[in-house]
Amino acid sequence: MRVLSGIQPSGAFHLGNYFGAIRQYIDLQEDNEAFYFIANLHALTSLRDRTRLEDLTRDAAVDLLALGLNPEKAHLFIQSDVPEVSELTWLLMTVTPMGLLERCHAYKDKVSQGLPAEHGLFSYPVLMAADILIYDSEVVPVGQDQKQHLEVTRDIASSFNHMYGDVFRLPEPLILKEGAVVPGLDGQKMSKSYSNTIEIFEMEKAQRKKIMRIVTDSVPVEDSKNPDTCNVFQIYKLVVSDADRDAMEQRYHAGGLGYGEVKKELAEAVVTYFAEARARRETLLSRSDDVSDILKTGAMRAREKASEVLDRAQKACGIGRIGC
Ligand code: ADP
Ligand code: TRP
Repeated sequence: MRVLSGIQPSGAFHLGNYFGAIRQYIDLQEDNEAFYFIANLHALTSLRDRTRLEDLTRDAAVDLLALGLNPEKAHLFIQSDVPEVSELTWLLMTVTPMGLLERCHAYKDKVSQGLPAEHGLFSYPVLMAADILIYDSEVVPVGQDQKQHLEVTRDIASSFNHMYGDVFRLPEPLILKEGAVVPGLDGQKMSKSYSNTIEIFEMEKAQRKKIMRIVTDSVPVEDSKNPDTCNVFQIYKLVVSDADRDAMEQRYHAGGLGYGEVKKELAEAVVTYFAEARARRETLLSRSDDVSDILKTGAMRAREKASEVLDRAQKACGIGRIGC
């Protein structure tokens, strides 16, 4: 199956991004044809600092490769390196009802949070539809928050097909496992917007310090504790073996375990869990030409498919190869 997903380069990846999304993208590269891209055009709707956008875009690519995205198995590229996507966006806009976009929660939420009501933010789902439809994508893994955008994509594709014939394949969403919601330092969902994140690749010392700050309840050391309601355990269980998880669970129930002790063990476990990825990242950072080559090859493969689908769409609506 052809799998496609995009990830915005809006900040350094944190444990929530990894366990909630990236790990699943990486698993999907095994038995599928996978296309993954860094959505820098979408990031422009909220990030207006050229150097920061360039750095974050490149860092996102390096981090995905370090975390196990294998360019032999998946095509990794930067969204803006496939200009066909922007061309298709216009064609899709011409068949997109305003009401469809006006109903989008993500737009309404962002505007209510104070982001200016700009056209780019409003038409964000149309660009996303182009991202998806241009590769004849079959399956699109996304978080729950993006589900509505997938519905919009299917609606836009259906309108276009209805007007011009059978041009686009309708993609299916693959909603990433809800069970994987990772709590942040304050116990809310870990998110850049809440400044409660533990970044995967931050310096070990800073990472340890943050982990020591995770909010816990005030049950005394000697008492039995509930691992299921403990933020520290919720992260711990993700980064250790099943046997270590079960052993820790018993220590919670038995009493005599201080949260400080669990936090220290969690910090160690996080370092161990990502040790290989950290080493791979160091290598990638010292070989920036290799990363550029991977992204170039990824974009080339992506463009092969994209130009085929764009051509199909242009011909269908009567603008294909008239002047040249
Ligand atoms: P953030 O909330 O930090 O801005 P994004 O919205 O960019 O993160 O999320 C990118 C992907 O990571 C999405 O698929 C989202 O579902 C997933 N994700 C983000 N935070 C978490 C979390 N705390 N637990 C599980 N998945 C998460
Ligand atoms: N909007 C998605 C997000 O913020 C990123 C994205 C852009 C995307 N284009 C896409 C995801 C196409 C899946 C498919 O998470």
